[in-house]
Amino acid sequence: MLNQIITKSISILPKWFAKPFAKAYVAGETNYEAIERIKILNQKGYSATLDILGEHTLNKNDSKKYTDQYLELYQEIYNNKLDCNISIKPTHIGLDISFDEALKNFMRILKASNLHKNFLRIDMEDSKHTNDTFKLYQSLKNDYSGVGVVVQAYLKRSLRDLEKLHFLGLNARICKGIYNEDSSIAYKNKNEINDNFIKIANFMAKHNCYAGYATHDYDLIEKLIENAKKRNLKKSQFEFQVLFGVPMEIQLEDLLKRGYKVRIYVPFGPNWFDYSIRRIKENPKIIKYVLKNILTKSK
Ligand code: FDA
Repeated sequence: MLNQIITKSISILPKWFAKPFAKAYVAGETNYEAIERIKILNQKGYSATLDILGEHTLNKNDSKKYTDQYLELYQEIYNNKLDCNISIKPTHIGLDISFDEALKNFMRILKASNLHKNFLRIDMEDSKHTNDTFKLYQSLKNDYSGVGVVVQAYLKRSLRDLEKLHFLGLNARICKGIYNEDSSIAYKNKNEINDNFIKIANFMAKHNCYAGYATHDYDLIEKLIENAKKRNLKKSQFEFQVLFGVPMEIQLEDLLKRGYKVRIYVPFGPNWFDYSIRRIKENPKIIKYVLKNILTKSK
């Protein structure tokens, strides 16, 4: 009962109240806090990808500031010898200002990533940005190899996009897709989305593309594994990816034990509030875990 009330009202509660619930999904506010989290994840056997929270940046000073912060992060990942790459939303570093602004910033970041032999993942945002995001990916891929993109299984166009992209030595994360898209362009039914997820995974396997299977859906994970076995896919041709804080430790440990690579997507930064509220609404159970934790600690 209490967790239902909190879930419904959390976005209007003061930030200090929401913070303990949000903390489960976000690795702090600073580079230092995020790097310390990654060290722990790496010690447990997980790879990671870091994301500075934020999107829809509308002025060039800010997009430069975020770009500089991503450059620092690559340096810190390198200094600490971490198994960690970086994921970036195009609108965080300028796509809503202009295509050229985003391309310029991505070029700077990717140069640093390449220098440190690291990797950059371009996250996929809503369908208004899909064409430009693939265009960014293609432009960057012409100059650098260590860059990948994301395809969303809910979009009806995704397989057609892959037909054009797989010649580039594609490395793509496959996810279901998180934005509220119109049914004219997106599947709405869970089975249809999952079927398309598998079709995309098969397409990528057939064309020797590296895939990141980003999902918390256990049934889908097992289907992907079965599928990979049927196709004699090597474990080095794909990985599983999950969001930091999603309570599935037992399943993740099991995947590691079975020899699969698991990467945790770790968001952090001062803009933690909106992101965490979205995650909590997706999974109100988190409120129950945190309340239980608080009550146990206060005994
Ligand atoms: P589904 O929604 O069917 O959930 C499966 C199970 O997991 C359910 O039991 C559900 O309750 C549980 N679950 C799901 N989310 C949870 C949460 N936050 N907390 C606790 N339990 C949860 N999207 C996008 O459009 N562009 C992108 O670039 C990315 N990037 C990305 C990276 C990574 C690593 C992940 C895991 C996901 C993304 N996404 C994304 C989000 C993705 O598209 C999708 O919206 C969510 O992962 C939820 O879908 P699932 O595949 O987990 O299945």
